[in-house]
Amino acid sequence: MIVEKFLPLIKTGKNPIIVNISSTSGSIGRRSRKGGGYSYSASKAALNMITKALSIDLKEDGITVVSIHPGWVKTTMEYTENAPLTTYESIKGMKKVIENLSIEETGKFFDWEGNELPW
Ligand SMILES: NC(=O)c1ccc[n+]([C@@H]2O[C@H](COP(=O)([O-])OP(=O)(O)OC[C@H]3O[C@@H](n4cnc5c(N)ncnc54)[C@H](OP(=O)(O)O)[C@@H]3O)[C@@H](O)[C@H]2O)c1
Repeated sequence: MIVEKFLPLIKTGKNPIIVNISSTSGSIGRRSRKGGGYSYSASKAALNMITKALSIDLKEDGITVVSIHPGWVKTTMEYTENAPLTTYESIKGMKKVIENLSIEETGKFFDWEGNELPW
């Protein structure tokens, strides 16, 4: 809905990019151990599908769409008390990844260090 509302503005941008903040929790390909979190994981897997679908629908408009996992970051989100990354480190990494994106990367899933993740 946010993309829908902002689309006219996004289209006027130079090298426009839409970044969905996802999580490795939403990666079906990486799921290999016990952990629950069904609703959260499913919501991120759904977000990843939205990224993929939007990347196809908006490619001819030159809009890059990706999902990014910010890392395990100490924030006010639950279960992040022992997280190794600060918000500064995570955002610095994501900013670098975003600055280097072009339409060739549309429809991909990255972490905050620029590593590509499986869906
Ligand atoms: N922290 C991690 O380790 C980690 C790992 C993987 C992915 N992520 C993802 O990173 C993103 C940011 O998470 P975070 O760790 O920064 O969590 P957070 O500290 O809990 O922050 C969540 C933010 O979302 C806002 N928010 C929540 N519900 C909202 C709503 N209905 N409408 C508008 N805003 C709403 C909150 O606003 P208020 O402050 O006003 O409530 C808050 O600013 C999330 O998508 C999370 O899934 C985080």
